Amino acid sequence: MAFDKKYRFSLTESSFRRQDETPDEAFYRVPRFVSHIDPFAMDAVTELYRQYLPDGGVILDLMSSFLSHLPEECRYDRVVGLGMNDREMANNRQLDDWVVQDLNREPRLPFVDSEFDGAAICVSINYLTQPVVVLADLGRVLKSDAPLVISYSNRFFETKATAAWLYLQDEQRAHLVRHFLEAAGCYRNIELMDRSPEFGDPLFAVVARVMKANP
Ligand SMILES: C[S@@+](CC[C@H](N)C(=O)[O-])C[C@H]1O[C@@H](n2cnc3c(N)ncnc32)[C@H](O)[C@@H]1O
Repeated sequence: MAFDKKYRFSLTESSFRRQDETPDEAFYRVPRFVSHIDPFAMDAVTELYRQYLPDGGVILDLMSSFLSHLPEECRYDRVVGLGMNDREMANNRQLDDWVVQDLNREPRLPFVDSEFDGAAICVSINYLTQPVVVLADLGRVLKSDAPLVISYSNRFFETKATAAWLYLQDEQRAHLVRHFLEAAGCYRNIELMDRSPEFGDPLFAVVARVMKANP
């Protein structure tokens, strides 16, 4: 898949409406101990993390659940999750700490500046109603030059995905994520990729590095 096309997005408030506008807290109250992509796509995510997230670093798994897909052989200093369900994250063997927070109610992250060496958002960016605010604050809590790996597939909870996401095709969604990162104003080296395995669920990623004026 080629990502060299140019897209211009003019997003409005309605771009971030969802079919289910009830509080996310209600939707995510019951834990789901299921994988949201198949094992081949999960392996593709793990390979991305192996490639980009620094072994030995402090890692943030944003929009986390009971699986983080981090390479088992890596010895991260600390892995922190932020998601909606306490029981899912309590059962995630790869998390050292976690926090329950609804980013659609409070998009600012409960972490100090430059706390993390890398971050990941797996199959979840499509649920954010204020993605630019979240990504800008993620830039604050990441160190200068730290990698951010955002991945997605073609399966998701449709009623909770934003209208903008539903409107687009797989390839265009990578451009939308790039648009969010550019609007956040603190990312560089934004790469769009198709990491779909030969069989099963497709897997796309947008990877970027944090750029800080005063690292
Ligand atoms: C499809 S699951 C993906 C979970 C995990 N990242 C994975 O790869 O399996 C979507 C995740 O997004 C999180 N999420 C959805 N809406 C959220 C919100 N408003 N604030 C914070 N996290 C949210 C949920 O906790 C849920 O675990």
